[in-house]
Amino acid sequence: MKILAIETSCDDTAISIVEVRGSLKKPIFKVLAHNISSQIKIHQEWGGVVPSLAKREHGRNLVPILIKSLEEAGLKISASPKSDLATRDTTSSSRSRNLEKKLAKILEREPELKEQFLKIIPTLKIPKIDAIAVTKGPGLEPALWVGINFAKALALVWDKPLYPVNHLEGHILASLATTSKKKENKIKFPIISLIVSGGHTELVLSKDWLKYKIIGRTRDDAVGEAFDKVARILDLPYPGGPEISKLASTFSPTTLKGAQGSSAGVKLPRPMLHSGDFDFSFSGLKTAVLYLVQNLKKEGKFNDQIKTEIAYDFQNAAIEVLVAKTLTASKKFKAQTIIAGGGVIANTALREALTKMTSDNGFKLLIPELSYSTDNATMIALAVGLRLLAGKSKKSHTFKAEGNLNLK
Ligand code: KG4
Ligand code: ZN
Repeated sequence: MKILAIETSCDDTAISIVEVRGSLKKPIFKVLAHNISSQIKIHQEWGGVVPSLAKREHGRNLVPILIKSLEEAGLKISASPKSDLATRDTTSSSRSRNLEKKLAKILEREPELKEQFLKIIPTLKIPKIDAIAVTKGPGLEPALWVGINFAKALALVWDKPLYPVNHLEGHILASLATTSKKKENKIKFPIISLIVSGGHTELVLSKDWLKYKIIGRTRDDAVGEAFDKVARILDLPYPGGPEISKLASTFSPTTLKGAQGSSAGVKLPRPMLHSGDFDFSFSGLKTAVLYLVQNLKKEGKFNDQIKTEIAYDFQNAAIEVLVAKTLTASKKFKAQTIIAGGGVIANTALREALTKMTSDNGFKLLIPELSYSTDNATMIALAVGLRLLAGKSKKSHTFKAEGNLNLK
């Protein structure tokens, strides 16, 4: 079966088409299209994501990305010029009027999307897909709604079942996009998943497919949020994660010693490292950076060299806590597999630290390729694909966006 998935929870407009085969024991996924349009440039000048701008951009981008994705998957076929919106039933005009009314209602709050939708979608034959999946939450509600309304409109016009998806479940399953291609794709339970994104930092225990129990989470800022805020303190552009990562990679304590004298010896706190539970806290770490930078600036000692050292130690502090807690959780719950997911897993140093920890301790690690680490729609398709294989999918054409949706 082929699943068309839509993801608009934050500042990426993403559409994927994934073919799902096999069984729950041995799921096989083939990514037929994987498109992401980033809005970073638009939000950069505001120093963070502006929800109203994100909504507008999703509205502009969705139809062109859909067309591109259908083309990539070989599923775009033009309709005959006569066909109208009710391409599946051109004989009944009252049915067609009814459909148009429903469509107008679904798209009433998305003016730019509506215009493009009414112009372009009727020019297409209904593509050979079996289901539509869309992110329901968590995320920015105005952004989520555009994707949801688009998905509802497509599901109506094309007469396809629609499945709402939890974005965090998507991040957990993202690594399966590639591992399922490999022969040794049998996943052993229990799984401990580490989700590290701009909005979440969670450790999740799964004793079986599609079963999630949150065993630890951040008590304040998410780790990606901390990267972004620390970047701002260090005068680096948004989003800060990749910027800190780039800067930190240029720091080398040994070369620094040789070339420029000893480093400043920055040592930031490792918050909650020994708290005895699986919770995290990153807001104190961010504040420690803030005070340090304020003091250095007052003393006229804030320069590029120390900025690099702060980026390096901040990144190390965050990684140390994330990896240590993932290890203790995995030992406690006798995990067979560790899964990592979410935008921060694009961080090279974190990937390396997790790889080392899991190989030192005999855990199998599943980590998504870079293009499946940050927000994307392939992971949303995978979540529905697995649920369909498990016979546990729940379609709905009436659900709402949920900004604070929890993982269940
Ligand atoms: O999963 P994601 O794309 O969106 C959310 O669901 O939040 O994650 C975005 C977060 C941002 O905070 C961004 O700064 C962070 O992931 N990020 C990184 C890196 N690439 C993205 N953090 C650290 N190092 C990176 N290379
Ligand atoms: Zn995300």
